[in-house]
Amino acid sequence: MNHVEPFVLDNWVRKFKPLAKVTLHDTCVNPLSLDALFKFSAESQTTSVNTSTPISYGSVTGQPQLRERITEFYRSQFPAQKTAELHVAITQGTISANYLVLDTFLHPGDHVIVQYPTYQQLFSVPRRGGVDVSLWKSDPKNNWSLDPEELKRLVIKGKTKMIVINSPNNPTGASIPSTVLDEIVKIAAENDVLILADEIFRPMYHGTSPDTELPPSITAWAGTYKNIISTGSLSKGFSLPGLRIGWAVSPNSQIIDEINLARDYVTLSVSGIDQEIATFALWPDIRGKILSRSAEICAKNLALLTEFVEEWRSKGKLRWVKPVVGASAFVQVFDSTGQPVDDKEYCERMIRETGLLIIPGGYTFGNGETSRDEWDFKGYLRVGFVCEQGLFKEALRVWGEYLGRD
Ligand SMILES: Cc1ncc(COP(=O)(O)O)c(C=O)c1O
Repeated sequence: MNHVEPFVLDNWVRKFKPLAKVTLHDTCVNPLSLDALFKFSAESQTTSVNTSTPISYGSVTGQPQLRERITEFYRSQFPAQKTAELHVAITQGTISANYLVLDTFLHPGDHVIVQYPTYQQLFSVPRRGGVDVSLWKSDPKNNWSLDPEELKRLVIKGKTKMIVINSPNNPTGASIPSTVLDEIVKIAAENDVLILADEIFRPMYHGTSPDTELPPSITAWAGTYKNIISTGSLSKGFSLPGLRIGWAVSPNSQIIDEINLARDYVTLSVSGIDQEIATFALWPDIRGKILSRSAEICAKNLALLTEFVEEWRSKGKLRWVKPVVGASAFVQVFDSTGQPVDDKEYCERMIRETGLLIIPGGYTFGNGETSRDEWDFKGYLRVGFVCEQGLFKEALRVWGEYLGRD
């Protein structure tokens, strides 16, 4: 058995959540109750969900109607584009989808290139499996952009088997523009490399103005290159994280078949009840209402956060690249001498003294290079801005008081 690297963010939340009175840690838009979900239907009742389906294992590859709704959801985002046929595997959240992809298509001695910073799973799982990991670093001085020339340099011919991206990105709230995605697909195609795009935050475009181009999904390239996989779930913009419904989508049916083969060993079938509710939530009319609610929560909270960060930026305490998509901002905190704080120590002291839980971003997202003594992104905090507005305002008030102390 290989050593498992601790999932630093999850450990942090497990340890400190019990002390929290207010939080800025969550990235799932204020979760819905079943009652609230059913109110989105014209009938406003639970019978909108099909309760007559027997609760058997059902289709082990996922209920056909749910898979159809997911492909339809992907297609709805590219009305002008002729997207190639898409195939879907239903999984327990994006976390299972990512795990199955990384575990199935990477082997000891292979090489993988992973966008950085990102969700720790995406580089820790391959590393544990004896895969060489190169980090493709976003540039904080240039809106967290990624340089395709650097990606070309990182590819090792014959050894690189996968490029992993996460857009919209956790933690930065940046997205990869169409021109860069195009370069990624070209580089992958030239080198026969699989692309895994964790697109869990995709439906969240609150920061884009109506005339800006929406960040495209990697599946927009399905007609050009088949070896691509998009993963996602109902956890973030859909406000249903506890359903545990996620997916892997690919234009390559063989890829989906292989994911399902691997899945047979860990999941007999995803809960049929959860799939029924997910099918309901993805009905175009319901889906539209859920996503509008999320967009409104995100836009309002982001406006409050912008005001807050700008005030403290003018006092030399905070710096950021304002997020345009996703659920979180990566905000750097400075002490009175102008140095970035020790984010781990800062967040621990804050939760113990004020009851405000924020994720130390350097400590939890900056552990990409295990050979180093220090983590990257010193002083960064990952600030989720998707909770209920009253709680969000209170959390900012507490953080403001704390910032004002020194
Ligand atoms: C980038 C990213 N991928 C995957 C996940 C896992 O989400 P879930 O399994 O709820 O879909 C998360 C959760 O925060 C995430 O931020």
